[in-house]
Amino acid sequence: MNTVSPILDTKFDVDKIRQDFPILTEIVHNKPLIYLDNAATSQKPQVVLTALDSYYRHQNANIHRGAHYMAAKSTTDYENSREAIRQFLHARFAEEIIFTRGVTESVNLVANAWGRVNLQSGDEIILSAMEHHSNIVPWQLIAEEKGATIKVIPITDSGELIMEEYEKLLSEKTKIIAIVHASNALGTINPIAEIIRLARQRTNALVFVDGAQAGVHLEIDVQALDCDFYAFSGHKVYAPTGIGALYGKREVLDKMRPYHGGGEMIKEVSFEKTTYNTLPHKFEAGTPNIADGIAFKAALDYVQQIGKATIAHHEHDLLEYATHKLLEIKGLRIIGTATPKVSVISFVVEGVHHSDIGTLLDTQGIAVRTGHHCTQPLMRRLGIAGTTRISFAMYNTRAEVDSTVQALQKSLKMLL
Ligand code: ALA
Repeated sequence: MNTVSPILDTKFDVDKIRQDFPILTEIVHNKPLIYLDNAATSQKPQVVLTALDSYYRHQNANIHRGAHYMAAKSTTDYENSREAIRQFLHARFAEEIIFTRGVTESVNLVANAWGRVNLQSGDEIILSAMEHHSNIVPWQLIAEEKGATIKVIPITDSGELIMEEYEKLLSEKTKIIAIVHASNALGTINPIAEIIRLARQRTNALVFVDGAQAGVHLEIDVQALDCDFYAFSGHKVYAPTGIGALYGKREVLDKMRPYHGGGEMIKEVSFEKTTYNTLPHKFEAGTPNIADGIAFKAALDYVQQIGKATIAHHEHDLLEYATHKLLEIKGLRIIGTATPKVSVISFVVEGVHHSDIGTLLDTQGIAVRTGHHCTQPLMRRLGIAGTTRISFAMYNTRAEVDSTVQALQKSLKMLL
């Protein structure tokens, strides 16, 4: 399978990178596509498309169980992908990497498999005011079942956690802190290392990190962070949808009950008693998402080959450039002005509804997201119904920012 990126030089050349993403030449509403909805999902480079096609064309087989060539090859490729994820997260052991469908499933896995056994009445779960619904609702469900309470770290108006308030929430009742690394709605990068340090100092609580937005932009080192869990989704890191990874410390995962029951997650089954497989298989019941799992590695290899720091540098340039340009528009207010930020810009324009902006930008070939971004409590805290959100990936350009700002000005003339 060809997973080698055509980008061989180390210098960042955005035009060359764009050639790796076939979708970027699409025409939308008779205009060249400008794709600025990368926080929702990123586009896929040719190496990922090739990996998917090649898997189904040349080696499709079930893994971990077949007695034949293709089963063995697919098993090796799938496990190589797990190893690539281990390296991407700087985890210690490959068995600490559990394949999931994405961050949502990872949160549900931990809330259920860990929470059902370890939470009891009176226990507290700490979340933050900027969590995505996927890092709120699974905890609410388990808290309701077990009689636990949810505590929320408040934020400032600029979208930063109030760390003094966080410290006040920590107590012997705290059993888990589930926190987003980088906000999908604001871009804020949270001080995760400090959050974990304080948690360790004052509690025996576990820390779950939602890395849905951070995984693609930041260097992640789960050992240096010392988190208990770290989740990220493939589709935001240029891999296919429907595949993601949950890192869990081996000693924590070992003690957890399985999440789903079924084939492959067992050692021995009888009607009287079932014993479970070793890690990571204990958490991977049934036939997994093999093709997407294998293509996940192609995406990570592609990112690593270009270099996360190089990509981050380019995205940061776009973030600064676009922030500066957007602020020249009268009545426009950026929502989320924390430092540091990932390359996400949410904004509102006085007197204009965000969905009208989104619709008019779309007619000009520009894809953005509008609305509450699955963060209704955050929107409520900020006193807004929603925002228009621009989010950059490695293939975006300053020229696209210029076109977007022009298109926005044109749209606002029509709307105001
Ligand atoms: N959570 C994704 C977003 O922010 C879908 O758009």
